Amino acid sequence: MLIPRTVTTTKTATETRTTTPPRPSSLRTAAESKGLLVGAAALTAPQLSMDYRYAEALSREFNFITPENAMKWGPIDGWGFGPADDIVDYAAAHQMKVKGHALIWAATLTPDERPGPSWVNDQLPADQFRQAVQDHIRSEVGHFKGRIYAWDVVNEAVDANGLRNTVFLKKLGENYIAEAFRLTHETDPDALLFYNDYGTEEVNDKSNRVYELVKGLLDKGVPIHGVGLQMHVNASSYPDSQSIAANVRRLAALGLKVNISEMDVRIRDLPGDLAGKLQVQQQVYHDIISACVKEPGFIGVTFWGITDVHSWINDAYINNQPLGPDKPLLFDENYQPKPAYYGAMNALLGK
Ligand code: XIL
Repeated sequence: MLIPRTVTTTKTATETRTTTPPRPSSLRTAAESKGLLVGAAALTAPQLSMDYRYAEALSREFNFITPENAMKWGPIDGWGFGPADDIVDYAAAHQMKVKGHALIWAATLTPDERPGPSWVNDQLPADQFRQAVQDHIRSEVGHFKGRIYAWDVVNEAVDANGLRNTVFLKKLGENYIAEAFRLTHETDPDALLFYNDYGTEEVNDKSNRVYELVKGLLDKGVPIHGVGLQMHVNASSYPDSQSIAANVRRLAALGLKVNISEMDVRIRDLPGDLAGKLQVQQQVYHDIISACVKEPGFIGVTFWGITDVHSWINDAYINNQPLGPDKPLLFDENYQPKPAYYGAMNALLGK
């Protein structure tokens, strides 16, 4: 009696395995099965150690980390390297790659366009400003040398008309971008160097300017290896996947790597109930990532956080308008995967 029953059970299990492959146990497993990176922006050490679920999810689900703030010039100037070192150590302990973010950034989020520390400002004479920028790159890139897979060297330097009129452009002239890439490369020749921006996902006026910028850099022999598309999107008016794919394709045709560097999908403005909004969010995550993974130059996607609770969207303002509160990420407040998680996973798997 026992023997036939055992045989039947085994057969059924085998049949099930061949018809429905088991779902990967994590985004990381899914991405690694396709040779892709899947990343998250990471908060600093207090968050890493305060809630075991945070640190546990970070290394289980992701193979790539971008420090959300700890490597920006302002925080480095104020806190020193300690908090960023903790993230880099965590990554090494869990066999994860790190994207350094972001060496040169005149935040669109700060009204006075400060690039970082308050002492580096418009009032500084140009030679001292240049010296400060060079010291900053040498010291930060030098500190992390050998531990950083890729740097966002310059972040958000372009608008639809050309180079944004930032304090860097005003003080250093338009060559500042090439100078920053050259100095970063000289300081850590093994790191891949990226230009990163928002609103440049689709083929549009702004992404045309980015294309011209990076092509111009390559033509001049400047060391640049990739472009990051931030992908902070609103599910009620999100970029077209085919247009994103075309943009990735033209950048890859220049020999550049492309990654989605800061993805989140806001759902607050969608009509309907929460369950419906979460379904739309799943679709948006799926369609955008799916269009990109089909492009050979695409190396992977980073989400701008893990759980909705910590998302920057909840506190962010653009043009004095609050962006949140919202639920833009893959995990809910209890670290449970949302429908969006499965949308992203299927896209990574090419489904
Ligand atoms: C955001 C962080 O998430 C916030 O915590 C911080 O207060 C402001 O910066 N584009 C970028 C990121 O390149 O560095 C920004 O991160 C989000 C927009």
